[in-house]
Amino acid sequence: MIKADSLTKIYYSGNNSYTALKDVSFSIKKGEFLSIVGRSGSGKSTLLNIIGTLDKPTSGSVIVNNKRLDCLTKKQLDQYRNKEIGFVFQSFHLEPSYSVYKNVEMPLLIANVPPKERKEKILDALLKVDMLGKEKNCASQLSGGEKQRVCIARALVNSPSIILADEPCGNLDSVNGRVVMELLKKLAQEGKTIVLVTHNMEDAKMTDRIITLKDGQVISDEIL
Ligand SMILES: Nc1ncnc2c1ncn2[C@@H]1O[C@H](COP(=O)(O)OP(=O)(O)OP(=O)(O)O)[C@@H](O)[C@H]1O
Ligand SMILES: [Mg+2]
Repeated sequence: MIKADSLTKIYYSGNNSYTALKDVSFSIKKGEFLSIVGRSGSGKSTLLNIIGTLDKPTSGSVIVNNKRLDCLTKKQLDQYRNKEIGFVFQSFHLEPSYSVYKNVEMPLLIANVPPKERKEKILDALLKVDMLGKEKNCASQLSGGEKQRVCIARALVNSPSIILADEPCGNLDSVNGRVVMELLKKLAQEGKTIVLVTHNMEDAKMTDRIITLKDGQVISDEIL
């Protein structure tokens, strides 16, 4: 379903260049729960951002459902990002002054979903992450675990087929981290394709497959 084909990413600054990814290739099957591990600076976020079209490779391509992302127009890319992908970040990226409801509503507004349908989808997503009843709360007043569950609701609300999560448990204590991992596991069992970037091997072991990056290259690809 997702194919990374010879991805290379070089960052240039002034006369210096830095190769963050070097010829990375692998395929992810529909419904697979994949984790990407590796030391800090090994290229994990760069890879995830390229899959999510938040960044572009210097060479190589990402192919999703037989379509090369580098051949899509800007409009098609925006649609792909909005309809097919849900992002979950370590630092949440919620709008702090907005309510839980409004934060989860954002992807639906972008997708022009009509109001009645929006409400159903938002409440359904909040139910899935056990946040029903908190929809009027302001995002800034939530605990870390609650914030991450709202992020997952926001990632889910538009029914994407792919969830990309970059260290979603990185700012959480172990109990809340576990809750988030169990939630991702459940979503994978329901058929979502999930790519998880993590430092935590215990979390990685809850997934179907672990890809290890070192200095921008895949050094192991292990099916569990
Ligand atoms: N915009 C940028 N300009 C220059 N170098 C960058 C840029 N973004 C990332 N890098 C470099 O690319 C390498 C890979 O970065 P990346 O963020 O993908 O690592 P990571 O594996 O996610 O690390 P961490 O575990 O610390 O989040 C790092 O050495 C980083 O300094
Ligand atoms: Mg990172």
